[in-house]
Amino acid sequence: MTSLTAAHAADLVAALLFVLSLAGLSQHRTSRAGVAYGIAGMALALTATVVVASRSISAGAVALILLATAIGAALGLWRARRVEMTEMPELIAVLHSFVGLAAVLVGWNSYLEVERHGDAQSAVAADLLSIHHAEVFIGIFIGAVTFTGSVVAYLKLSAKIASRPLVLPGKNALNLGALGAFVALTAWFTASPGLGLMVAVTVLALLLGWHLVASIGGGDMPVVVSMLNSYSGWAAAAAGFLLDNDLLIVTGALVGSSGAYLSYIMCRAMNRSFLSVIAGGFGIEAPAGGDAEQGEHHEIAAREAAELLAAARSVIITPGYGMAVAQAQHPVADLTRRLRERGVEVRFGVHPVAGRLPGHMNVLLAEAKVPYDVVLEMDEINEDFADTSVVLVIGANDTVNPAALDDPASPIAGMPVLKVWEAERVVVFKRSMASGYAGVQNPLFFRENTSMLFGDARQSVDQILQSLDAADPALSARP
Ligand code: TAP
Repeated sequence: MTSLTAAHAADLVAALLFVLSLAGLSQHRTSRAGVAYGIAGMALALTATVVVASRSISAGAVALILLATAIGAALGLWRARRVEMTEMPELIAVLHSFVGLAAVLVGWNSYLEVERHGDAQSAVAADLLSIHHAEVFIGIFIGAVTFTGSVVAYLKLSAKIASRPLVLPGKNALNLGALGAFVALTAWFTASPGLGLMVAVTVLALLLGWHLVASIGGGDMPVVVSMLNSYSGWAAAAAGFLLDNDLLIVTGALVGSSGAYLSYIMCRAMNRSFLSVIAGGFGIEAPAGGDAEQGEHHEIAAREAAELLAAARSVIITPGYGMAVAQAQHPVADLTRRLRERGVEVRFGVHPVAGRLPGHMNVLLAEAKVPYDVVLEMDEINEDFADTSVVLVIGANDTVNPAALDDPASPIAGMPVLKVWEAERVVVFKRSMASGYAGVQNPLFFRENTSMLFGDARQSVDQILQSLDAADPALSARP
């Protein structure tokens, strides 16, 4: 078998490993195996690519590729080891921006390569030239949209810029106009390619990517991240066409379609229009709402909260991003155990976008060894709040905001939320009256049956545990 045939076979195996990886990642139980398949597939793909490249390039160039791979791997390992769970979506956004940038560079390189050879004795057969030109243009367009879109997503997710949507006058017309201009430029470029058009499409796509994501509000960011994941896949597939690399085409298509499907599922879970979100909030006009306070709130001390819990028949805990920030999952698991030993029914209600990435809360609760059977999805528990004595809202905000149901003008209107306010008493753990990720005030905090327990969630739960211990030392002595 020649090294080329072996490399093609390796490509096929790598593609299969990527499919197995996606299948594994779709369930908690098999996710570790999914990650392992992905690593194996990527290692194989890289090796095969270098082997094929080494046939047509100098030893020095191969050494450069290996050096670049080593530097990239070292940087990736360093970041992955240091990143906090709460920073994961930001990291993913940055990684998507790299894929977008790579697609832009591949497109430019491919254009300059063909130009350097001149059309007549080009590396691309003359009759395929216009297809090549279209590939260059489409690759650069998708790549540049992904690049700036991901940069804006990173800036929003890391709170370096405000998460509220940018609403330029005629924003939908701007997006549609940019798409129309892209189609016209592509037709022009395939007929008569030129440097000016290359610059024009790159600038146009960079601006469009920026505008598309800047126009989307904080509450819809989870969908945007998975949508950019999809775009980065299509950008990689476009680069695969330009580089004549089948594996890149297959991998890009897998990422592109699975990302699109995930965005679709998330849109359905959040009652959002898929087309509206991928079109940069198309059809959504300037949102109302803000973070002004809406009445008086009542405070509660940890000791009083402990008394409430000790007297409760049933408790539901709804965790959110703040529980992750405070790393409160271990004391929360302790509290759960302590209350269950007292005969209190304790369950968790997990919203599909609680935290900052899908499954965030489930991972934290599993890490703290909270039994799986008491951790329920929103739809499984939402009708039970009315029959619950106490709800503990631990670091959640947007996901328990009644305005999503009551206020059609709210930026999160229509998003399903946990109906915590239907319980007899609600205790909200947070540090201040600040708004949540979507930047909207939460009327829950001003309801009669809601009490605010201010402070870091971990410390507050610890204080509740101490009060319970003081009240009933016999129970706390158990392992
Ligand atoms: P958020 O609405 O972001 O609210 C988090 C709350 O935690 C804030 O009110 C904050 O109030 C509080 N908090 C922060 N640190 C705390 C600490 N150390 N101790 C106690 N409280 C603390 O959270 P959520 O309800 O989980 O909603 C998630 C939001 O993120 C949604 O808008 C969602 O669309 C968005 N989002 C989700 C994802 C995914 S896929 N899950 C990805 C990106 C964005 P204080 O500052 O006053 O303490």
